[in-house]
Amino acid sequence: MGRSSKDKRDIYYRLAKEEGWRARSAFKLLQLDEEFNLFKGVSRAVDLCAAPGSWSQVLSRKLRGKDKSEEVKIVAVDLQAMAPLPGVTQIQGDITKISTAQEIIRHFEGQSADLVVCDGAPDVTGLHDVDEYIQAQLLLAALNITTHVLKPGGNFVAKIFRGKDVTLLYSQLKIFFSSVTCAKPRSSRNSSIEAFVVCQNYSPPEGYVPNMSNPLLDHSYGNSGKFYPVSYRTEVMDTDNQDANSGTVEVQDEKTEICTKKTTVIPTDVR
Ligand SMILES: C[S@@+](CC[C@H](N)C(=O)[O-])C[C@H]1O[C@@H](n2cnc3c(N)ncnc32)[C@H](O)[C@@H]1O
Repeated sequence: MGRSSKDKRDIYYRLAKEEGWRARSAFKLLQLDEEFNLFKGVSRAVDLCAAPGSWSQVLSRKLRGKDKSEEVKIVAVDLQAMAPLPGVTQIQGDITKISTAQEIIRHFEGQSADLVVCDGAPDVTGLHDVDEYIQAQLLLAALNITTHVLKPGGNFVAKIFRGKDVTLLYSQLKIFFSSVTCAKPRSSRNSSIEAFVVCQNYSPPEGYVPNMSNPLLDHSYGNSGKFYPVSYRTEVMDTDNQDANSGTVEVQDEKTEICTKKTTVIPTDVR
């Protein structure tokens, strides 16, 4: 489908064209980095759900300085193929599969990643509850594969929909990371319930063994008894502590907050 004139007026759409980014989404990762200094000290990075590749472009441009291009390894995973990028190894695969995790580790020669990012999104149905549910499942799949490939102390950034179940997702993420922050970069459209979780300092519960064959939400990890396994569907239906329209979220502790600073109000995403 062609771009509407509204798309073309969008500052980030035009900037992406000018600067050679494959999608305007590049600015979301760049702005998250400005806020959280995500790329500092990173030499192994994974881009989950990467196509058409603007986040991989950002990683490639930012991590591979003049002298560092040899030591930096970047792996991009997507169901779809994408055009090659300098210094980026592509895996055409599914992030829910153990074979994908193994392939990533193989590329890192047995070492773990310093940073995993995921801008994954399902095909939107227009049914908000369904879209939110599928997005949540994709985020959990990204978290699951991340537990296989991320080093302790590493960081994970992923797209999240601020739906009714968002606090449950925060709780899940906090089992694995000592800091979980939800941020909305100014290039993310006001009209979208999209935001990004920035999860810092990967520290899985003692004795946790990554296992792709089980959904994370069905398991208790025995981490001091603070987390009780729940039925995900039940929680989605029962949790009613968020007004998705107002963009406000009931937060559970001071480490989780919503940054609502935005600069664009345009309803259609541009790729
Ligand atoms: C919004 S696009 C990503 C845009 C990308 N970050 C960029 O900047 O160009 C979402 C991507 O998620 C991918 N995706 C969805 N489910 C996936 C899965 N299970 N495994 C791998 N990729 C998946 C889709 O194929 C799609 O390319």
